Amino acid sequence: CGIVGIIGHEFKLSELIDNLKKLEYRGYDSAGLAVTNGQGLYVSKSVGRIDTLRSVVDVEKTARSGIAHTRWATHGAPNDRNAHPHTDCSGKIAVVHNGIIENYQELKNELIRKGHMFRSETDTEVISHLIEEEFRGNLYQAVLGALKKLKGAFAIAVIHADMPNVMVGARKGSPLVLGCDDKRCILASDVTPIIKYTRDVIFLEDGDIVYIEGNKAKITDINGNVVIRKHTHITWDESAAEKGGFKHFMIKEIYETPEAVESALVGRFDEHGRPTLYELDEFNLERIKRILLVACGTSYHAGLVFKYFAEKYLDIDVLIDVASEFRYRPIRVDDETITIAISQSGETADTLESVRAVKKAGGKVIAIANVVGSTITRESDVTLFMNAGPEIGVAASKTYVNQLVVLYTLGMYMARKKGVWNEQLSSVSKELMNMPKILKYVLQNQEIERMAEYYKNYHHFMYIGRGINTATAMEGALKLKEISYINAVAYPAGELKHGPIALLDPTFPVFAIVPNDSLYEKMRSNIEESRARNARILSVATEGDEEIKRISHDVIYVPKVHEDLYPLVMAPVIQLFAYHIADKRGYDPDKPRNLAKSVTVE
Ligand code: G6P
Repeated sequence: CGIVGIIGHEFKLSELIDNLKKLEYRGYDSAGLAVTNGQGLYVSKSVGRIDTLRSVVDVEKTARSGIAHTRWATHGAPNDRNAHPHTDCSGKIAVVHNGIIENYQELKNELIRKGHMFRSETDTEVISHLIEEEFRGNLYQAVLGALKKLKGAFAIAVIHADMPNVMVGARKGSPLVLGCDDKRCILASDVTPIIKYTRDVIFLEDGDIVYIEGNKAKITDINGNVVIRKHTHITWDESAAEKGGFKHFMIKEIYETPEAVESALVGRFDEHGRPTLYELDEFNLERIKRILLVACGTSYHAGLVFKYFAEKYLDIDVLIDVASEFRYRPIRVDDETITIAISQSGETADTLESVRAVKKAGGKVIAIANVVGSTITRESDVTLFMNAGPEIGVAASKTYVNQLVVLYTLGMYMARKKGVWNEQLSSVSKELMNMPKILKYVLQNQEIERMAEYYKNYHHFMYIGRGINTATAMEGALKLKEISYINAVAYPAGELKHGPIALLDPTFPVFAIVPNDSLYEKMRSNIEESRARNARILSVATEGDEEIKRISHDVIYVPKVHEDLYPLVMAPVIQLFAYHIADKRGYDPDKPRNLAKSVTVE
């Protein structure tokens, strides 16, 4: 979910909605707002996108404080009633909330016993009633009282009908950012609605409560003790978060990949092309024999690429797991183990909890993240930033490539530390430097869109790859599923014969990742096997490979690169293929149904 609040200066409702719109990628099941100018609360909510809310609200109306919310449903179906803000019985207290209140049922029962009437099925509504219970004329004190009873993860913003000059926010487990200029304060789930007012923001920490009066904010802990939080200066350009000529954010962001990669490389290599990750020097990575890798979704696939790369060169074991499983397993750490947590948003709840579990077990964590100031970056021992710039499209694109770039760099840095740097790595590193140029070239390939046009009506796809490109196949299938809703499955190609090959027939095409690498011959056999079952074959192969043309129905070519780096040049191909299919099928790839950019619930 996304929450935003404005206070301190009279504003039109259109301004509050514009700010909310910047958070739409965080969820869009329903949207709502509550505002006051001292004469009662004005609340409006509606199921669906923020533009639907805009159409039912008097956008010219003015107010002095207001909160708004865009929802990604957790408790209660997406409908008008369950949309935020939620109010209390008196109708004076309004709350927006992102996260989950774990003990809401118990609290709700107790409140009902005390006579409170509930209008929604949400966990959030208990917060407004709890605040009402605690309210003795001071909103801040009432929020403190209520927070002491809440279990779970949340970020909230609260206003009161009679206090147009006051807003209270709190954070525990879900992100909340504060920015104040000379007229107003903005409280929001992330910086995007804030940067047009100010670039100096405060990322609130877990346990922080912020009391805002006018354009002045005070941060305290739950006992009312003032805490000082430092400002972070945001350098992202606001226009970098706009679509700039492209039909969707996703396609714009795919085309930003070369530039993003450039930013990921900058300052991380010496003049001989050897990686220098100074921020890791104190971690003595030369002694590491085991890496635990934890991530979700696309980030997990980036981790899988790293596993193949690191195990090939570093003489170590890399144990990788999705965070939602990892965190419930026994965690073994020692001096020779390090954990790497990968998360574009830096807020994914399962990944964050995994980081916490490792830290609790006494382990050290290197985070790889894109969002500066995000929770995972603050709770890990050190962060390697992806430097991809903001990514609005829900399905990861340029950030996946940047994750790979950072992970390759980390692998090579470890090779240096361990004294196993060799000629091969030297050529990997040279080619990595050249990647922005190579990716620009890949992005010019018109064949990908033509193939999307041809394949857009199939209902199933089988993605196959081997070795390091098993991850490419998995990521390709995930992209297609996420945004075009086509059933896409992915297998290491050698596994086809152990079951999935039974699915193949002319209605079930195979998308084969078959670069010219050391597993080429094996992949070729797997393609032949699939072809023998009358499946249509679309291969992604290395330029100049005529043999693949003979055994496939269609081929998309990528330039020849070092065999370890094929996941990088394959990435735009799988992303563009999924993007164009989604677009041609009439779906909005930026906002796939049922998904959210940053999943801050477990
Ligand atoms: C969500 C998104 C995925 C993303 C995953 C991990 O499920 O829909 O696209 O890969 O979260 O996100 P993270 O921010 O941790 O990389």
